[in-house]
Amino acid sequence: MPLHIEKVSHSYGTVDALSGIELDIADGETIALIGPSGCGKSTLLGIIGGLLEPTAGRVTFSGAPPTDSLNPFTYIFQDFALLPWRSVADNVGLALEHRALSAVERRERIASALALTGLAEFAAAYPKQLSGGMRQRVGIARALVVRPAVLLLDEPLSALDAQTRELLMEDLLAIWAREKSTRVYVTHNLEEAARLADRVVVLSRRPGRIREIVRVEVPVGERGRTEHAGLLLEVHKRLWSLIRDEAATADREIQPIRQ
Ligand SMILES: Nc1ncnc2c1ncn2[C@@H]1O[C@H](COP(=O)(O)OP(=O)(O)O)[C@@H](O)[C@H]1O
Ligand SMILES: [Mg+2]
Repeated sequence: MPLHIEKVSHSYGTVDALSGIELDIADGETIALIGPSGCGKSTLLGIIGGLLEPTAGRVTFSGAPPTDSLNPFTYIFQDFALLPWRSVADNVGLALEHRALSAVERRERIASALALTGLAEFAAAYPKQLSGGMRQRVGIARALVVRPAVLLLDEPLSALDAQTRELLMEDLLAIWAREKSTRVYVTHNLEEAARLADRVVVLSRRPGRIREIVRVEVPVGERGRTEHAGLLLEVHKRLWSLIRDEAATADREIQPIRQ
């Protein structure tokens, strides 16, 4: 579903979090949102998903969400509250509770979300039997089971170790190829941004403004190929040059003493 972010600004009381964000996102596109901590990334995601009313501007979308989408705007966070007493399949099914679905459709949706996330063999397992990476896959499956039109991901891999994160990036790319949502992916990890997004939106320090939009010229389906490694490295370097100075300034800031 195409999204239109029109002159969005947001303040929390006297704290200006976002300023004049203008962005059109194409249907099926993946946008990564990067920028220094506190620059308003999560705020923008909340505004896109309708959790938060912006102080100024608006977010609209074109057309209508697909009819099988039970929850057009769906979030994926860093950590999910999986219910320990429920199996993997029942945790995924949680998102379908209180929905008017036949038992067949419920089972079919759960099975396809588990297949998409590589969890088919783990349907009967319990969260405490799983690694951190597998648990995060359950969270992702729970988001996909509603067939979202727009997937809003807020640092979904940040709590994972480097190797698990690498595996999950591969999984997400495979999911992107098979599932047609429009995606906004917030991260502070430049590699994730370069690997997973069609375009990377670089925000300035608070109040977040768009500094630059970097297009990743490698088709998402080919991101894993070694012949593209050089191009992805170039994107990574470009992103780092854009945020380096602000990161360094923030790093050297002396905080006021709080009594
Ligand atoms: N509910 C809130 N009340 C007041 N200030 C907030 C609230 N949420 C976020 N902020 C402030 O707004 C700014 C942007 O926050 P956030 O969108 O979470 O940034 P990011 O996700 O980029 O780290 C930060 O300075 C943060 O402290
Ligand atoms: Mg955040």
